[in-house]
Amino acid sequence: MTVLVATEKPFAAIAVEGIRAAVEGAGHTFALLEKYSSRAELLAAVASANALIVRSDIIDAEVIAAAPNLKLIVRAGAGYDNIDLKAATAAGVIVENTPGQNANAVAELVFGMAVMAARNNFGGTSGFELRDKTLGLQAFGQVGRNVARIAGGFGMKVSAFDPFCPAEVMAEAGVTRVESVEELYRANRFVSIHIPATPQTVGSIGYDLITLMPKGGVLINTARKEVIDEAGLERALEERTDLKYFADVKPGNASTLEEKFPGRVFFTPKKTGAQTAEANINAGIAAANQAVAFFRDGTDRFRVN
Ligand code: 3PG
Repeated sequence: MTVLVATEKPFAAIAVEGIRAAVEGAGHTFALLEKYSSRAELLAAVASANALIVRSDIIDAEVIAAAPNLKLIVRAGAGYDNIDLKAATAAGVIVENTPGQNANAVAELVFGMAVMAARNNFGGTSGFELRDKTLGLQAFGQVGRNVARIAGGFGMKVSAFDPFCPAEVMAEAGVTRVESVEELYRANRFVSIHIPATPQTVGSIGYDLITLMPKGGVLINTARKEVIDEAGLERALEERTDLKYFADVKPGNASTLEEKFPGRVFFTPKKTGAQTAEANINAGIAAANQAVAFFRDGTDRFRVN
């Protein structure tokens, strides 16, 4: 079987070598397409692939149609909104993700952004400390749980809103359960977003929610840009000059926001949350092992379609 790693944003070299070793060690053929600059390159590369390992690469119906031998797509990461599940299912292709493997990396970036916001972008003016401040987690999945763990070290007071998470999971983590998303925004100086992009969540965080935040509120988004109603965010930042928005996912109106609200918004140039050697190794090798297990005996524990 040919396992193709197709990543526009490449993994660390050490992770690629680990993936290669896992694939070749199981007797399969390893293929690599990194930093590709055109869709044509991706379409050509998938032609001979039996399994595809990707990151945020867009795998739509056209890519799937260009891969007649494809059996499996593994998204080396958590969010699989970049993969057309319907098209995959229709073509008989199984899709998996690698939940949790890059969660710590994303969670650490949340605190990089929280400290940066609290210290006024390290510009030398007097800021504030995270200790004793309130932190609300919008969703308590793998990333949210890592954020809560690290927040304990900073001495923050953590609460979370997640209707899909059992109460005892939050209780065990020492996190206060909040019953509505409005309450989460109203009660927390920092809110960190960890929801996936789904038809239900896209555009769901806008003016009404953001303006509920207390004075000096900092909204941190390391999830997906699509969950934000960007016009609503702009209006909120305009009216509430005390609020900040720091994101690992550049909004469509990034340059307008940067121009209008200097120092109060920050965007990474490229999605950076999972961009560590450790996360690349964890997610990349998990993806390779999942592909190997699938071809060995059909194991599909992390199947999402
Ligand atoms: C994820 O969903 O796992 C993260 O957003 C990481 O995405 P990336 O692999 O493109 O960095």
